[in-house]
Amino acid sequence: MIPSAHTSRAQHGRFASMTFALSLLIFASSLTAAPRLDVPYVPTPPDVVHRMLEMADVQPDDHLIDLGSGDGRIVIAAVRDFGVQDARGIDLDPERVAKARANAEREGVTDRTTFEQGNLFEKDLSDATVLSMYLLSTVNARLRPVILETMAPGTRIVSHSFDMGPWEPDEFDTVNGARIYLWIVPAQVGGRWQLTMADGEQATLMLQQNYQQLHASADRDGSDIAVTDASLKGDEIRFAIGLDQYVGKVEDDRIVAADGSDAEGWHAERL
Ligand SMILES: C[S@@+](CC[C@H](N)C(=O)[O-])C[C@H]1O[C@@H](n2cnc3c(N)ncnc32)[C@H](O)[C@@H]1O
Repeated sequence: MIPSAHTSRAQHGRFASMTFALSLLIFASSLTAAPRLDVPYVPTPPDVVHRMLEMADVQPDDHLIDLGSGDGRIVIAAVRDFGVQDARGIDLDPERVAKARANAEREGVTDRTTFEQGNLFEKDLSDATVLSMYLLSTVNARLRPVILETMAPGTRIVSHSFDMGPWEPDEFDTVNGARIYLWIVPAQVGGRWQLTMADGEQATLMLQQNYQQLHASADRDGSDIAVTDASLKGDEIRFAIGLDQYVGKVEDDRIVAADGSDAEGWHAERL
C-alpha cells in the first residue's frame, strides 16, 4: 500500500508500523546472513597438505598462517606432523572456524593453534614465516602486492592449485594431479649500489629485479665489469665477478658478505 494525500490517519499508522516491522526483519536477517565468500569451501586432500608443508620446509620455530583455513587441516597438520609451535587459521565463515576449533581440540593441538573468523584481506600477515593458501587466481592476484610489500624477505608462500600470475614460483610439484606452488618472498634490491669488492676496489653495481629474477652489471671508473650468475633467494644474493663468488645478505639499504662468499668482507650500500 502506498499512502496518498487521501489516506486516513489510521491507515498512515498501519503503514508506518508495517514499514518498521519490515525494516526490523531485514536488519535481523542481515545479522544472520552467510558471509559473502571470495572462495567456496573445498578441502585440500591430506597428501597434498603434507607435500605443501614439506615444500615450505616448515620447521618448529615457524609461524604459519593458512588463509581461508576451512576445517583447519593445514594448521593442524603443521602443528601435529611438523612440530610447529604457532599456527593460525583465518576464515570468513564462522561455521568453518567452529569446525576447525573442534578438530584442533580433537587432535590435542589447541595450545598451539588459533582460528580467527574474519576477512583475510583485512588481516596483518606480516608476522608469518610461512603462508599457505588454497584460494583462487583472482584472490592470489589481489594478495600478491600485499605479500611483496608487507612480508619479510625469506617468507615462504605455498599455494594449492593456483599461481601468482607473473610471479613465477621458486618450486612447483604435483601430487595426484594437484598442483602445488612455492614462492620465497624476495628482498627488494633493484637499483644502484656502491660496491666495495674483495680487493677493496669500489664499483657501481646495477641490479635489475623482476620478482626473484635478477640481472646484474657493474661499472668501475667508466669501464664495464662482467657480473654473471646473479640470483636472489629471500634476503640472500649471489653473483660472480671473474672467478669470485659473491654471496651476501640484504639488510635494507646494505648488503654484507655472507657464508660461502669467496670475496671476504665485500659489502654494498644503496645509492
Ligand atoms: C578452498 S577452501 C580451502 C580450505 C583449507 N585451506 C584447505 O586447503 O583445506 C577456501 C576457504 O576460504 C574461505 N574464505 C573465502 N573467502 C574468504 C575471505 N575473504 N577471507 C577469509 N576466508 C575466506 C572459505 O570459507 C573456505 O573455507
